[in-house]
Amino acid sequence: MSAQIIDGKAIAATIRGEISEDVAKMKEQYGQVPGLATVLVGSRADSATYVRMKKRACAEVGIKSFSNELPEDVSQEELIAVVQRLNADPEVDGILVQLPLPDHLDEEAVLAEIDLAKDVDGFHPLNIGRLSMKFRDPLFTPCTPRGCIELLDRMEIPIEGKRAVVLGRSNIVGLPVAMMLLHRNATLTICHSRTKDLPAVVREADILIAAVGRAQMVKGDWLKPGVAIIDVGINAIDDPTRKRGYRLVGDVDFEEAKEVAGYITPVPGGVGPMTIAMLLRNTTDGKMRSLGME
Ligand code: GUN
Repeated sequence: MSAQIIDGKAIAATIRGEISEDVAKMKEQYGQVPGLATVLVGSRADSATYVRMKKRACAEVGIKSFSNELPEDVSQEELIAVVQRLNADPEVDGILVQLPLPDHLDEEAVLAEIDLAKDVDGFHPLNIGRLSMKFRDPLFTPCTPRGCIELLDRMEIPIEGKRAVVLGRSNIVGLPVAMMLLHRNATLTICHSRTKDLPAVVREADILIAAVGRAQMVKGDWLKPGVAIIDVGINAIDDPTRKRGYRLVGDVDFEEAKEVAGYITPVPGGVGPMTIAMLLRNTTDGKMRSLGME
């Protein structure tokens, strides 16, 4: 058997097209477009790349973006003052503080300062708290988890009643995606580094979300035939055949898994493009909500 490949790049392009239409409609009806403020602290190359990609994606769908670049040694007070200024700026509908922050900064305190209605990353403690409770709707859900669920939905892979296994429990992916699967009535297992007999637990999954950050950890014989795999991992491994000397792989051994799974996302080209598409969606949703559009 060979799994159906979930083409995240194509699905993200479709979603960006839908967002462009919403932005155009908004411009026509209200003379306004959504605005996203990015906040980048320090000079981590990966964070700078992500922020650059997010701003470029904004421009492509007609969302305005506003850059805020702060030095590595910025104080907690200065950073919070920037967030508060953005909270008050009527042109800013979404605020994205790129994580991780340098160690001397209190991430939770900074995220808690973001106006709930502008929390397009969905990391505000109140939005996460609502996500963690029954019948409480967060205003926004985090982008990568939302992208995972969207991939399942657009592939028409049912969630309700299915055994979902989430590998990893990070605040950015594992925990929120687990909550979202639970809200969709999956029967949920969360695995982590202390889980005993991980392959046996993973083998129960109808839906597997792999988000541990360990290259090709999940092997073909860990899988139930027909499982739908969403691989969130982005890991660099040495590859002397490539000009740059490495290539990117997921947390799942793709070559083995595709022979057993029903569906699988590739790395790259699976979840990655969805994260940014969902950020654009959240920013546009926030603006539509503030304008009272449907
Ligand atoms: N760092 C890694 N992923 C993310 C994300 O989705 N949002 C932000 N703000 N920082 C991140």
